[in-house]
Amino acid sequence: MSKNPTPLERVREYEREQAPKLPADERPLFHLTPLVGWMNDPNGFCYYQGQYHLFYQYHPFSRQWGPMHWGHAVSHDLLHWTYMPCALAPDTAADAGGCFSGSAVPLPDGRLMLAYTGVQPAGTFRRETQAQCVAIGDGVDFEKSLLNPVIRHAHLPEGYSEFDFRDPKIWIEGDGTFRMVAANRHEQKQGTVLLFSSVDGLDWQFVGEIDACWSEYGRMWECPDFFSLDGKQVLLVSPQEMHAREEFHAGYGTVAILGTFNKKDCRLERESIQPVDHGLTFYAPQTTLAPDGRRIMIGWMDNWETCKEAPRRHPWYAQMSMPRELFIQNGRLMQRPVREIEHMWQDTIAHSQMTVQEETSLPGVQGRMMDMTVTLHAQDSACRRFTLHVAKDSAHYVQVRCDLARGELVFDRSHGGSHRDIAHTRHVKADMREGKLTLRLLMDKESIELFINGGERVVTSLIPTPLDADGITFAADAPIRLSVEAHHLG
Ligand code: FRU
Repeated sequence: MSKNPTPLERVREYEREQAPKLPADERPLFHLTPLVGWMNDPNGFCYYQGQYHLFYQYHPFSRQWGPMHWGHAVSHDLLHWTYMPCALAPDTAADAGGCFSGSAVPLPDGRLMLAYTGVQPAGTFRRETQAQCVAIGDGVDFEKSLLNPVIRHAHLPEGYSEFDFRDPKIWIEGDGTFRMVAANRHEQKQGTVLLFSSVDGLDWQFVGEIDACWSEYGRMWECPDFFSLDGKQVLLVSPQEMHAREEFHAGYGTVAILGTFNKKDCRLERESIQPVDHGLTFYAPQTTLAPDGRRIMIGWMDNWETCKEAPRRHPWYAQMSMPRELFIQNGRLMQRPVREIEHMWQDTIAHSQMTVQEETSLPGVQGRMMDMTVTLHAQDSACRRFTLHVAKDSAHYVQVRCDLARGELVFDRSHGGSHRDIAHTRHVKADMREGKLTLRLLMDKESIELFINGGERVVTSLIPTPLDADGITFAADAPIRLSVEAHHLG
């Protein structure tokens, strides 16, 4: 290291020293965790020079949120990640208060552009402010633009905030021009998503406001993403301070708005709105386009409300969700685990059309690293309640209770080992489709991602359950046929 190391060099040195000391076998099998320290939102998710890049909100020096850096990892299959050195540190006037969330876009000249929020620290007479910055590099080292912040409060019409203005998502249109959406809290409208355009990614113009919240679905909207998918325009946002309503739970939420983009008025004309994930720990998702055309989404597998109290069992804290393929079916945004997971299938166990009632376990169906699909054949059954237990031993279990009559499911981790008085259950719609209900569970040590009916609804949740609690059982209030296909993962 040089005599006068920069803040970024210091972080990289710290990573080289500390990371090898962290026990690799404590990490999940295929979910990304921070190299060291703390992680929140996924950032800069992109496919660049033959591999996926994923950056993340990162505080290398502790397992708590702190001055934000960008961590970095690369992967060929979205499941096995290789760590790269820290990409951004808060080390310029434009971002001394932190390099907050943002995105990445490969440039026509072969370089990679990062767009992120620079936080300018509070001064004696001034609150902390937020503005958008860019950095350009080769996929490892990035140089921050001297023009930063390239989008500031002065770009905005009246009423928009300089304090809540963040999370740029950047892309390049077919004609080569740059676009960016960013979140802003408007005086009256609260959460808004603003669109900007630029010819070179440095000189930006405000175009308009594509949607606004009016305190209807939360207040401030964080981490917008905006893309077309299967003939619809999709806006993803992560609202703070949601009131429970319809299928949305209270607190930090994830919302997908589907509609048509009216370019002339710069308005998203809404057709439908739905939660992205119904689970206990999923926030701030971001998408990218895979080279084969799939729209892939990854989220922070955590929640601001509970992470502060969550146990720090490992020398790092937090993890990303499983990457998911998005698609639209019958006007709904659907998700399925990326198909690359099939390469991790080992020892497949299939039980077809077994009749169960009393709590039963099935030979070979046991474990905490598994991709398991349970299909209930309910057509000719009197069964009203079906219960799946996972992560079970004599002291613990996590329950998925299906009320087939009501078309509802309860995900319940109350007995999963937590000592905290936080939310442990979620009620989620789970209707039968042609007499069947399918539950696909991805389990990776301390997490469960449950895909209902081919990804109509998803429930993502961390579970603090000891890893030797690996039992799986099935029970019903009347005989019911079920098929189970369980792939151990390795
Ligand atoms: C969302 C968020 C973003 C912000 C980042 C800071 O989880 O609050 O809005 O950029 O986290 O770490």
